[in-house]
Amino acid sequence: MRKRTVLLVSDDEELGRSVTEGLSPRDFLVETVGSGDRLKIITRQATASYLVLDAASTALNLPVFLLQVRTLLADRPVLVLRPSAQVAELAESLGYGAGILDENMLAPEVLAGALDRAHPPEGIADLSPQSEAADAEEAADEATEGDSETPESGAASETRPADEGGTDPDQSAKAASALLIRRRPVIALAGLKGGCGKSTIAMHLITSLLYEGLEVASLDLDHAQRSLSRYIKNREIMRLGQDREVKMPYVIETYPEQRRTERLEDVINRAAKASDCVVIDCPGAHSPDVGTALACADIVITPINDSFIDLDVLATLDPKTGQMIESGAFSKMILQARSDRRQRYGRDLDWIVIRNRLGQLDSRNGRAMAERLAELAQNLAFREASGLSERVIYRELFLQGLTLVDLCASGSDVQLSMSHVAARQELRGLLGDITPRLLQAA
Ligand SMILES: Nc1ncnc2c1ncn2[C@@H]1O[C@H](COP(=O)(O)OP(=O)(O)OP(=O)(O)O)[C@@H](O)[C@H]1O
Ligand SMILES: [Mg+2]
Repeated sequence: MRKRTVLLVSDDEELGRSVTEGLSPRDFLVETVGSGDRLKIITRQATASYLVLDAASTALNLPVFLLQVRTLLADRPVLVLRPSAQVAELAESLGYGAGILDENMLAPEVLAGALDRAHPPEGIADLSPQSEAADAEEAADEATEGDSETPESGAASETRPADEGGTDPDQSAKAASALLIRRRPVIALAGLKGGCGKSTIAMHLITSLLYEGLEVASLDLDHAQRSLSRYIKNREIMRLGQDREVKMPYVIETYPEQRRTERLEDVINRAAKASDCVVIDCPGAHSPDVGTALACADIVITPINDSFIDLDVLATLDPKTGQMIESGAFSKMILQARSDRRQRYGRDLDWIVIRNRLGQLDSRNGRAMAERLAELAQNLAFREASGLSERVIYRELFLQGLTLVDLCASGSDVQLSMSHVAARQELRGLLGDITPRLLQAA
């Protein structure tokens, strides 16, 4: 019989030894990895048949890690050992309830039983949506072998973890579940004009929030271009060769709506419960996905280039007087999102418009834009944030996956030029207009 591989993530050496000794005779091959060995965890989790996470002894941020596993390795069986009430509740909501084992359930026979009930898919390395048909065939084969027990049927599904720290267990459980129910801010970069800086600003916002110490989840809805995904991928590659820490967002992979098995709204809301904030980069066109992202967003950021053509998607202006005649196409989408959002969550959204790629010289066009935008802000209920100038530094770091925020961070060995310093000032101004409310909410 082929040995099934178990990746145990734990910093508890004694537990690692007892699990290895207990499971080896039962045809499991156990590999224990400490939580500090992130690279090993990332590389091994893709090929192990099972993931076993020792919540009581790991420095990983388990809510974020579990969510990552759930989205990236959707059908991988996961056991969560000794979780806190908060982690247990999240594991349950992600469908791992049957694999929750408390302190008293670590005997090898109990562990082996739980692993046996959770069937790992064969051909683990290929979990792309294209392989769904193959997985379905394998599931059918397994069913004909007569093992019909569902993962939920194990005794483990009844268990609840012991509470930590000697406080009233009821109180702690309530506090933990309140924390989970509370939804963290969702920010969508959206607008109908292509090339106005949505992905660029999304990446700068993400890195800035990471440096604020937040756990940031990122979601790229532009399935055709995938600019934000590419940017983050470049950062991941660059990070491998670095001695110093490079902060990374947690990337939520979504497929286009017709290939997705889960509703986008659920994906966003789950991410908003498990991280400190979610940043969504939208394509520059209308789609049902964009409608959902807008309705889920607490903050919508719309960059516009300093041009009346860009302004036209916000409002139709009278050519003679420059006064607003009616809402433009994107403003109508926001109106719809505001109404959806009030119905779903009982709250309005914060719409922020940013002027991007501003010329550095004062111009008549620039002044006229500023005036019109100030009027539209009143009529369409958005707020203006400080704009960004046209600068090479906002585009030249893409291949390294870096942003101006990284260059300016303490510990960076980059010598800042005058132009970097000026850019840092304006970026701080912009982030200062966006993030205080975010940080308050996070
Ligand atoms: N402030 C800026 N200064 C200089 N270049 C910029 C600035 N903002 C964005 N860019 C550049 O403008 C181009 C478009 O930016 P970006 O891809 O972020 O726009 P987008 O709104 O996401 O586009 P799309 O709608 O196609 O997704 C890119 O080449 C980017 O590097
Ligand atoms: Mg883009």
